[in-house]
Amino acid sequence: VGEAPGQDEDRKGEPFVGRAGQLLTTTLKGFGIERSRVFIGNILKCRPPDNRTPQPDEMAACMPWLTQQIATIKPKLICALGNIAAQTLLNTKTGITKMRGKVMGHVQEIPVFPTFHPAYILRNMSDLPLFAADLQAACKTTGLLPSA
Ligand code: URA
Repeated sequence: VGEAPGQDEDRKGEPFVGRAGQLLTTTLKGFGIERSRVFIGNILKCRPPDNRTPQPDEMAACMPWLTQQIATIKPKLICALGNIAAQTLLNTKTGITKMRGKVMGHVQEIPVFPTFHPAYILRNMSDLPLFAADLQAACKTTGLLPSA
């Protein structure tokens, strides 16, 4: 789960298809997970004006959709990408650096595992190994990858 569609996503009607999405897709593929094996969504269902950070009322307006998506899909794990998704899903103000890489709570009894947002990684490539390790650990937790 990410934050909100960007320009590319709004144009295509699909989440994470721009540069951040390509990084997410290639990182998953790097340890053998095709994008089609995971469901990718966002907190916000349309792009905020000028790509600004979503406001609380906008997130509250969109959450029923994500709540229903989660109830329908029943994922084994929810990976929250970045501060907005992690703080919204976990109802906390704790920053992503403190929460990343482990299960920090549950939504509908599903474990929530925060990591960095791939757009942050595009600006801070030195954190790519941490991001990749988090995603891989998340996939092992779900059984998508063997854990041994
Ligand atoms: N960033 C997000 O949070 N979501 C997208 O779908 C694309 C970029």
